[in-house]
Amino acid sequence: MSVPPELIERLRQAGHVVVFTGAGISAESGIPTFRQAQRGLWARYDPQELATPGAFRRRPELVWSWYAWRRQLAARAQPNPGHRALATMETRAPRFDLITQNVDNLHQQAGNARVIELHGNLRRSKCLDHEHPVPDWEQLPGAPPACPVCGSLVRPDVVWFGESLPATAVTAAIAASQSAEIFFSIGTSTLVEPAASLPFLAAAAGALTVEINPQATPFSSQADLVLRGPAGVILPQLMIAAWPG
Ligand code: OAD
Repeated sequence: MSVPPELIERLRQAGHVVVFTGAGISAESGIPTFRQAQRGLWARYDPQELATPGAFRRRPELVWSWYAWRRQLAARAQPNPGHRALATMETRAPRFDLITQNVDNLHQQAGNARVIELHGNLRRSKCLDHEHPVPDWEQLPGAPPACPVCGSLVRPDVVWFGESLPATAVTAAIAASQSAEIFFSIGTSTLVEPAASLPFLAAAAGALTVEINPQATPFSSQADLVLRGPAGVILPQLMIAAWPG
């Protein structure tokens, strides 16, 4: 696919670029998206039923073991050309904000220095009752450990369905979206609120909005430009076109 010349020019000139990503950007790193069938042992479980506080209280071993598997998948995965293109974009744009719904840490591994994490990070753990941060250890399947401070169960430091997003991250994401000159929505089904509102906020505030996704989403009809295809192919093409050499 060829990158629209208008986008190349706007990207070169933009003072503030904002990128919003979802699970699709990590698909080419081998991490299944939320709405894709899970693999192997976990195929019979619906992620939306495991990723809840209620599920953890009812079946802590099951949920902890699922996260142990997801954490291992993420730990073995490598950033793909899409992640790497965004790390380069951060170094080119005068002001750059990366907002992600992903918990896999691949943007950070690719080299993005400042990432607004809306849904937490699989690498961190905290306790269930008081959110005491619990130092990292190898997360093994089985029963979750007890918090060394208060004894409550340790859980992954990610946002589950039914929980609020971290307020600081939400405030930063809204402010960035509303002041973006170009806003990219990449690899997200744009279905899960409140994150799904960000592209619409950016559009309402006057940003040039660009969706990169092989599939249509509820935002597609409002985006100024839609680039249909995998992020790992389109983003490197865009970067080469905007800043050759
Ligand atoms: P989804 O799994 O809902 O959507 C993934 C999107 O990525 C889909 O629109 C795909 O078409 C697209 N996609 C797949 N492969 C791609 C590729 N190679 N390049 C670009 N796009 C590709 O993931 P999210 O939108 O991130 O929340 O889901 C949002 C949130 O819902 C998740 O963070 C999680 C979840 O349930 C929580 O855990 C709170």
